[in-house]
Amino acid sequence: MPVQSQFPSSMPAADDNRTPSPQSPVLSRDRLMIEYRNADETTAALPTGQDVTVGLTQTPKTLPPKYFYDDQGSQLFEQITDLPEYYLTRTERQILETFAGAIATQVGSCDLVELGSGSASKTRILFDAYQRQGQPLRYVPVDVSGGILEESARALLSDYGTLTIHGLVSTYEAALSNLPATDLPRRLIAFIGSTLGNLSPQQAQQFFRRVSESLTPGDYFLLGVDLHKDTATLTAAYNDAQGVTATFNLNMLSHLNWRFQGDFELSQFRHVAVYNEGDRQIEMYIESLVDQTVTLKALGLTASFAAGERLLSEISRKFDPEQLAQRLAAFELDVTDTFTDEHCQFALLLCQKP
Ligand code: AVI
Repeated sequence: MPVQSQFPSSMPAADDNRTPSPQSPVLSRDRLMIEYRNADETTAALPTGQDVTVGLTQTPKTLPPKYFYDDQGSQLFEQITDLPEYYLTRTERQILETFAGAIATQVGSCDLVELGSGSASKTRILFDAYQRQGQPLRYVPVDVSGGILEESARALLSDYGTLTIHGLVSTYEAALSNLPATDLPRRLIAFIGSTLGNLSPQQAQQFFRRVSESLTPGDYFLLGVDLHKDTATLTAAYNDAQGVTATFNLNMLSHLNWRFQGDFELSQFRHVAVYNEGDRQIEMYIESLVDQTVTLKALGLTASFAAGERLLSEISRKFDPEQLAQRLAAFELDVTDTFTDEHCQFALLLCQKP
């Protein structure tokens, strides 16, 4: 997936069945503009399934994580964020609550571009800080789901009387390659929610390059990442007692069933999540319980699974802030502040282009 453009929401809502077909490329009101980067591109975000064919015919098998996020998967992810074991979302929220004022003071009046804006629930903490400080802010949410973007934009406009919004229904790369011009002094690109962890190291580098190219000297980049920690805490976060993460993982097969006329039998597979300490990443697998053959009619594909065979459905990388700062610096993204929680579980890195 080119720089994960297919699952860009912080509450990731990928190219799912909720994305409406745009009636017009631009929807404009006084304080709200929503731009569909072009109808073809929105359509192009719909999966052809070629990536599924590639993933299921290679060894070991893999599937792109964007297939987690149909309606059901997005709801399950919402549930995950509230689980007692899944500390990531609430910890990032706490960090924002503690440091939003400091971030607003340092960045100042700006265009806030949020990649994968989703419901923007955590971003509201930044809006509150800007409002308290009386600093002008324009919000530029970027999401492939036009429905979610419009819904959240309207709610924000009614809650924040001085906010203006220019939404982009777009992939990340289309948005980053041509961000709307701004009269405000700075641009702040935000990529929170730890979605960076779901990119391979190579995809992350490509992503940093694009972010850096979209900034001019003095502009900022705010990045939320999960940190490396003890294996027990990490594995519990991806193997919750209620089994929501297991349902979320296996739901990918249901998604493929409806989207590509598949016949995956979910009871014949199980969820596995392990922490690979060497690579510092959670690896989520779907394991076949028996020897079996699965057909995806719409793709003309038949795939065989051996009992015990694992299909990699997601990586979730865990970072060391100093190492990450070095990688960011290679793309002219200098970390000016690292905000973390009292247990150093999660971090928000504020970077500036020199
Ligand atoms: C979206 N992403 C940051 C989540 C994560 O923790 O990597 C996805 C997730 N997978 C299982 N639980 C949550």
